[in-house]
Amino acid sequence: MCGIVGYIGKRNSLQIIYDGLIRLEYRGYDSAGIAVIDKDCNINVVKKAGKVKELESYFDKDLLEGNTGIGHTRWATHGDPNDINAHPHFDMTKNISIVHNGIIENYLTLKTKLQQEGFTFSTETDTEVLANLIQYYYISKQSFEIAVRLALSEVEGTYGIAVLCRDEPDKIIIARMGSPLMFGIGQDEIIASSDAAAIISHTKNVIYLEDGEMAILRKDGFQIKTINDEDIHREIMKIEFDLEEIEKGDFEHFMLKEICEQPDTIQNTYRGRINFDTGVVKLGGLENVKEKLFNAKRIIFVACGTAWHAGIVGKYLIEQYCGIPAEVEYASEFRYRNPVINKDDVIFVISQSGETLDTLEALRLSKKSGATTLGIVNRVGSVIAREVDAGVYIHAGPEIGVASTKAFTCQIMSLILITMMIGKNNKTISDKDLKEIAAELKGLPEKMRQIIDKKNDYKFIAEEFKNAKNFLYLGRGLNFPVALEGALKLKEISYIHAEGYPAAEMKHGPIALIDENMPVVFIAPKDSTYQKIISNIIEVKTRKGKIITLASEDDKDINEYSDYILRVPDVHPLFSPIINSIPLQFLSYYIAAARNSNVDQPRNLAKVVTVE
Ligand code: AGP
Repeated sequence: MCGIVGYIGKRNSLQIIYDGLIRLEYRGYDSAGIAVIDKDCNINVVKKAGKVKELESYFDKDLLEGNTGIGHTRWATHGDPNDINAHPHFDMTKNISIVHNGIIENYLTLKTKLQQEGFTFSTETDTEVLANLIQYYYISKQSFEIAVRLALSEVEGTYGIAVLCRDEPDKIIIARMGSPLMFGIGQDEIIASSDAAAIISHTKNVIYLEDGEMAILRKDGFQIKTINDEDIHREIMKIEFDLEEIEKGDFEHFMLKEICEQPDTIQNTYRGRINFDTGVVKLGGLENVKEKLFNAKRIIFVACGTAWHAGIVGKYLIEQYCGIPAEVEYASEFRYRNPVINKDDVIFVISQSGETLDTLEALRLSKKSGATTLGIVNRVGSVIAREVDAGVYIHAGPEIGVASTKAFTCQIMSLILITMMIGKNNKTISDKDLKEIAAELKGLPEKMRQIIDKKNDYKFIAEEFKNAKNFLYLGRGLNFPVALEGALKLKEISYIHAEGYPAAEMKHGPIALIDENMPVVFIAPKDSTYQKIISNIIEVKTRKGKIITLASEDDKDINEYSDYILRVPDVHPLFSPIINSIPLQFLSYYIAAARNSNVDQPRNLAKVVTVE
């Protein structure tokens, strides 16, 4: 969840590292730092609590001039986000400088050992222990590479690291265990990073490290090894997205851009995967495992956060349209509660980043238990995508805003495709219905666009409610998870307390909170749940709650029950969670913007959660 950048080459490294850190800031943003090797082979460091931009005012361009350097933007897990705890860290002799993502679990044991050898420490961090451990081995082996290797062989935990050595200034060493790391190969230069976003403006040619591997990077070449000293040959890959996809363009925030991209991203999810004449779906990534899927005794969706909400949509779809028992699990609970997993279970892990630690560990547990594991992942080549038996990429493109938007709707789109595929094979969805769904799908992007074109209408309602202390979001059926997601979005970026509930559950508790200060958002599509929702609305109205409804364009009946109405075009019920998500995303976005919140980098959150 932190970001790493390293540069070695012919150019001045400071600006390249700084620009890279700006691009990675969405992964962590409470402190940042840069270390550069100067012409006298000293390692000079600048590091500060706060955003990467704030670091710039502390740059001493003379001290930080050099062609080799490393940088870090941090999301604090252990230790306050202050100047001292910011990375890079030095060993006590300032020979070794290191930036680190992850957690060294046995750092206290290692620290005690080093203290007994006379090492001293100036921070409480695990990273400083690793810097000193490398130096400990450097003293006896006089080889940077061997020292890193020996130190890492003693480490328990997760790491992505980039390391400099004052006495061997012609190289950067990087290594990974459970935390992504890659390097881009340019003309006489190499840019290392935890994320392709920091590399793409320099080159699209990258090599991804695997767990247990390290790379010795020089300006004119590199060598990859395991930390057990075996040579590795790895193919060069191409970064799969373009620079403009990770730039804001004319939008004020990435989140707004990503909300507005959804008519396109949704098409990227289904493009080439559906025959619009027949409604037949073919998902290449599931081809080899499709018999397992068709014959699954049970399907379990495992995920965290927004992806977990998509999992609820998945459960409802699979049970309703395929007749297969389905469950949805929080990855963090699933992995620790000794779940019963059978060999004929199919377990879908859903993850935008493909890196969430709990989801990854739940996947590993499922694999060990012999179930078929499938991924619904956005990040191509991410660790979850690589470890599942098979899977579906959602093709939402890079999602930079910390609050997930387009990934959610593309996850749902993938789940609809999977449902159609199973339903066709298992004959639980008729050919006629498949055709109808496909025909409806054709028109979906245009209907999404109609909502997006009216985005400015949300500003008025956002102004009305920007000072609310609480919000309630209620929906039924496929729109219950949309209510949960709407509430999560609001919480994340505006810091207003919000709860999502199945509408009828309101009577079992939340109704006690309703008074004239409580805005309640009802998702009220004209489907089989409509009359029930109207009853729920009346229950809230009687108690003077403020009613905001999300309703079909031609639903006039809703007017008398609503204080505010967010209109959406009519869609097939399958697509209603997609279409209904967009107004709720806008609502939370404009409320947060009206409160001057930092929409793309909300406090305490990180885009990728690689800690437990
Ligand atoms: C959503 O807005 C979140 N920031 C968060 O809940 C996220 O969905 C969750 O951490 C899971 O992430 P993943 O999809 O990358 O696994």
